[in-house]
Amino acid sequence: MADLINEYSMHTATCGQLRAADDGREVTLTGWAWHNRDHGGLIFIDLRDRTGYTQIVVDPDCVSAEDFAKAEHVGREDVLKIEGRVRLRAQDAVNPEMPTGEIEVLASGIQVLNKSITPPFAIEDGIETDETTRMKWRYLDLRRPEMFANIQLRHTVMQAMRRALDERGFIEVETPILANSTPEGARDYIVPSRPNPGKFYALPQSPQQFKQMLMAGGVERYFQIARCFRDEDLRADRQPEFTQVDIEMSFVTEDDVMTMMEGVLHEVFAAVGLDLQVPLERMPYKFAMDKYGCDRPDTRFGMLLHDITDLVKNTGFKVFANVANSGGVVKSINAKGAGDWSRGDVEKLASIAEANGAKGMAWVAFTTSGEEKSPIKKFFTDEEWNALKVEMDVEPGDLLLFAADEPAVANAVLSALRLHMAEALDVPREGHSLLWVVDFPMFKYDEDEKKYAAEHHPFSKVRAEDLDGMEGDPLSCGSYAYDVVMDGYELGGGSIRIHDPEEQRRVLRVLGLTDADIDEKFGHIIQALSLGTPPHGGIALGLDRLIMLLAGKDSIRDVIAFPKTSSASDPMTGAPSEVTARQLKEVDLRLL
Ligand code: AMO
Ligand code: AMP
Repeated sequence: MADLINEYSMHTATCGQLRAADDGREVTLTGWAWHNRDHGGLIFIDLRDRTGYTQIVVDPDCVSAEDFAKAEHVGREDVLKIEGRVRLRAQDAVNPEMPTGEIEVLASGIQVLNKSITPPFAIEDGIETDETTRMKWRYLDLRRPEMFANIQLRHTVMQAMRRALDERGFIEVETPILANSTPEGARDYIVPSRPNPGKFYALPQSPQQFKQMLMAGGVERYFQIARCFRDEDLRADRQPEFTQVDIEMSFVTEDDVMTMMEGVLHEVFAAVGLDLQVPLERMPYKFAMDKYGCDRPDTRFGMLLHDITDLVKNTGFKVFANVANSGGVVKSINAKGAGDWSRGDVEKLASIAEANGAKGMAWVAFTTSGEEKSPIKKFFTDEEWNALKVEMDVEPGDLLLFAADEPAVANAVLSALRLHMAEALDVPREGHSLLWVVDFPMFKYDEDEKKYAAEHHPFSKVRAEDLDGMEGDPLSCGSYAYDVVMDGYELGGGSIRIHDPEEQRRVLRVLGLTDADIDEKFGHIIQALSLGTPPHGGIALGLDRLIMLLAGKDSIRDVIAFPKTSSASDPMTGAPSEVTARQLKEVDLRLL
């Protein structure tokens, strides 16, 4: 790469390239003045570009008086062109931390290509500048080595993805951005159409319908590094526009899609120096929910959820007994190492439980000195207490936390507490852990809307054995859907799709659509299915999340060149912004 970027440019070497072997070489370097120091007559400038930095020495005996004066006035982030000769540093000036630390460049000429006003924040790694400021001057933020490394990692991963998919016969096809609504569960971004007054496009939440149409079109193996748009509540791992590696295949089973994905991921990991062991573990959805309380388990540590419903159903602690006898569950985790926490610190955890729907958070602390502290111990018989300790594998120094509720709430509460305690106790979670979660249910019940919704999306195929009874008991239907989970994040998801038009209609009806709705919104899909669509299935990986995890970051904003804030705005360009009255009129709109 270094050679290529030298070929046609204003420099003959890059700032990260020179080594002891280059001693004596005449070079021209270009870059940004990073740090400069005036050492009584000699001026030192660290010249930085995307490849690294080199120490420049400006000696008044080796440059013209005019150039020396320029060096004296160099400010941070000025853009410079330096001509000079590479020389070895004195033994005691060698910097082993710095790739170019054995050499320096003795300047013979200095040209200031552009001056910079004082930057609003330091172009350094590890700065604590608030993120909105970094986003307002994103181009400065991108000059920081750690940010450039993320962008470069993203590029490496994208190229490896393309290569691995191309080698497997996948064809990259672009699909429309001005599209119709796709039911991925978020709100759509809508765009008015000027030639069609009163009508709107929806930006795609994913290319789901198009990739299925490509299968109907005989493309057989499709991929796209696709931009997706979802108007949803933003979090560290969610952006309003994000990128999927979107994949679809014809004539395949679940196994084929998962095996293909494992092969591709193995190659992508290898491209960034990691050895991903495949095949990946396949964990049934129900097991994930039972043991981890969520469908994207972080399997790098234990602290599993234990179901103690049977054990407490006759206890004198009425909260537990009542829940256990009325269809709920009582579950617990053992946070080893928190047994000596103060009562106050333990009770603060209740706010995490409550934020996830809990009505309370019972606990038992087993101190390292052998005491047992708990607001609920008094309600237990010795026998129940001992059985609890055996079930929870209790030792001195342990803290048990409990949730008694309907299963979904108890799982959500303990899943959140498990992650919180792992963080608080610094439980080691090194390396990466990837696995499949399989055997997802087809439907869930949406309490707010009071109707069934698709767990993945309505194009996923219902398990053959559940299809007959689907209308009678939607919640017991399984689907051929799978998620790939990495380090506790949902990295990707997909499914084998419905290819039978009648089955597709039936699923949409379960979701509460009338036949007229189905014809209006999904008529094109039903029609394609009746015109020889092959059996097909696929998957989409969240590229931003993959890069975030590979880069060891906590937010996908750090691996997106120009991300949006939590209110979906861009402080740099000012988007979204107002439009003129004329623009509104052109699209036949009036603001309320
Ligand atoms: P799904 O909705 O599960 O599936 O999305 C696939 C993956 O995309 C990523 N992702 C996001 N990343 C950042 N910001 C967001 N707002 C966001 N939303 C989703 C996640 C997720 O796992 N069409 C189906 C795929 C299929 O069935 O083939 C789909 O979009 O990593
Ligand atoms: P109470 O008898 O209501 O004071 O509760 C005793 C303990 O049980 C307190 O620590 C509560 O936080 C806890 N608790 C109450 N309801 C629940 C519940 N549904 N699940 C777990 N713990 C609970």
